[in-house]
Amino acid sequence: MTLSIILPLIILLSSSSATALSYFSVTDFGANPNGKIDATKPFLKAWNSACRSIRPAVVYVPKGRFLLKTTIFYGPCKNSPIRFKMNGILIAVSNYKVLRPSGTWIRFEYVHGLSIYGHGTIDGQGQSLWACKRAHRSCPFSAKSLSIGHSSKIRISGLKFINSKFFHMFIYGSKEVSVKNCKFIAPGNSPNTDGIHIQYSSEITIRNSQMMTGDDCISIGPGSSNVWIEGIFCGPGHGISIGSLGHTKDESGVRNVTVKKVKFSGTTNGIRIKTWGRPSNGFVKKVTFDDITMSDVRNPIHINQNYCPHNRGCPNKHSGISINGVVFSNVKGSSSTLIAVKFDCSKTHPCTNIKLNNINLTYMKKTSQTSCKHVSGRSSKCF
Ligand SMILES: *[C@@H]1O[C@H](CO)[C@@H](O)[C@H](O)[C@H]1NC(C)=O
Ligand SMILES: *[C@@H]1O[C@H](CO)[C@@H](O)[C@H](O)[C@H]1NC(C)=O
Repeated sequence: MTLSIILPLIILLSSSSATALSYFSVTDFGANPNGKIDATKPFLKAWNSACRSIRPAVVYVPKGRFLLKTTIFYGPCKNSPIRFKMNGILIAVSNYKVLRPSGTWIRFEYVHGLSIYGHGTIDGQGQSLWACKRAHRSCPFSAKSLSIGHSSKIRISGLKFINSKFFHMFIYGSKEVSVKNCKFIAPGNSPNTDGIHIQYSSEITIRNSQMMTGDDCISIGPGSSNVWIEGIFCGPGHGISIGSLGHTKDESGVRNVTVKKVKFSGTTNGIRIKTWGRPSNGFVKKVTFDDITMSDVRNPIHINQNYCPHNRGCPNKHSGISINGVVFSNVKGSSSTLIAVKFDCSKTHPCTNIKLNNINLTYMKKTSQTSCKHVSGRSSKCF
């Protein structure tokens, strides 16, 4: 071998070590950090260059404010995991009409192996849309702040999500997604600002995060399995919910969900399963709620199979969703209503194998009550 062949080989070998990350800073691609000039194209250029890199690559967002319109980052990429280091603040356009019609603000699609980290903020600028919704004007369109679609091996950590127009994070058609040490913050009266909504996804982990929102802190839709939620603070908000399920006749079920070490404070609901009162072949199987603290929660434990807003479109008011195998263990604290545990299951598909274990919920410092309809299982309270 001649020297001229050996040398490039050595460079190749050393560049594949962990330290040899290639940085693609959005400012080098022309993004202006003043928060006023549209930075969408520079962000996409930085992403595309990083994604095409065969060496480990980082898209870097430095401190500063970056205005983004609808921005979709497509994979697959040539390096994995590709990194997205976010120290700046991403700002959505406050005028919700300009985001039509995609339903998306920032989205990753078909990316397999991605780590998004840093102490940056994702600011959805939802205020004008919430005002429209509160005034009951016709304002049909909402964009989710961050969507992860058809992707896998995604890790998101350290970020702060504020004031989304709709869900702060939306995970669909994906697997192996982990979210940790994040914050989700929007006013308690901001409509539809769920923290994280999951559907048609599996192996999803959400840990050590704080959620203060105007809707569900976390909601789990159809087709979700192997979901692990641990170490969450929720409030204000509507609690952690499986559902709504069973709106359509043919629907994938929800299987194997664990929710533990969660504190709810001043929320409308705590832990909840909610299904439409209409025919469906969906199901909920193997769910565990453990080590849950409630503080002044309106409906701490609730299974509602008669969801039918405005009483419309629920022909016989019986849900077809079968709920089987739900364990509620070590739930303590205070309810702000007398009935702290409410099982309102389907007459045609009763809830089975429901266990209550070490539940101590008080109402005005006294023992609270339990209401049970069409449910069987094991508990001193119901059965
Ligand atoms: C349930 O999900 C957890 C992850 O959340 C996983 O570790 C476990 O293996 C799953 N159990 C089954 C039976 O699939
Ligand atoms: C239930 O909790 C209350 C206060 O949170 C406490 O005073 C009471 O002893 C508890 N009851 C049981 C049976 O643990």
